[in-house]
Amino acid sequence: MTDEKLSEEEFWDARYGESERIWSGKPNAVLVDEISGLEPGSALDLGCGEGGDAIWLARQGWRVTAVDISRVALDRATRHAAEAGVADRIDWQRHDLGASFPEGSFDLVSACFLHSPGDMPREKILRAAAAAVAPGGILLIAGHAGFPSKEQHDRHPDVHFPTAQEVLESLGFPDGQWEVQRSEEHERTRTGPDGQSITHVDNVLRVRRLDDRAEPGA
Ligand SMILES: C[S@@+](CC[C@H](N)C(=O)[O-])C[C@H]1O[C@@H](n2cnc3c(N)ncnc32)[C@H](O)[C@@H]1O
Repeated sequence: MTDEKLSEEEFWDARYGESERIWSGKPNAVLVDEISGLEPGSALDLGCGEGGDAIWLARQGWRVTAVDISRVALDRATRHAAEAGVADRIDWQRHDLGASFPEGSFDLVSACFLHSPGDMPREKILRAAAAAVAPGGILLIAGHAGFPSKEQHDRHPDVHFPTAQEVLESLGFPDGQWEVQRSEEHERTRTGPDGQSITHVDNVLRVRRLDDRAEPGA
């Protein structure tokens, strides 16, 4: 933990309590790029924060279950969804995903930037995420491939961000049951609070659970 006195829940509640909005409110570009145009169905958004991704998915017609450890974030996300007119399409659930996981299976399971400075068992959560994908459904995992600046890296030299390939291997998929649709790193540039340009390197893994109920040749 960054502060030994805080649990992970307390850390994130405090982080979200610092200001009225800590993320942009927009969906992650990687989600928009990867999911636009798919037939909407049921979606699970893990570590949904203030709800930017969940609200975008709901606007595209998805029925969304959105999960976060922070009640502060979920309350804020609930308000934003009401303002966006999609409150009835999103089921907000509070879970510490290392300890409990939403029930059901989903046509899309998305974990975008599910990172935490705490002891969050990310690999375990991502394996549970894969198990929650319905036959024919998509698992999308986007994450940081490193710190955005050398200074931060120097302060945390022991932190390892897995590559997309390492994330894929950690999922332990049996042969022949999943199709890898994307596994790559890419650069993203954003404007920081002082107008400076900040470059991030992200990785994205998109896999599809094969549907063994499908007709041969379908
Ligand atoms: C880096 S933020 C990303 C938020 C959002 N997905 C986005 O891309 O803007 C990570 C999110 O994961 C949540 N989180 C951290 N640990 C968690 C846990 N154990 N269970 C559920 N959510 C968790 C945090 O509260 C936070 O909202």
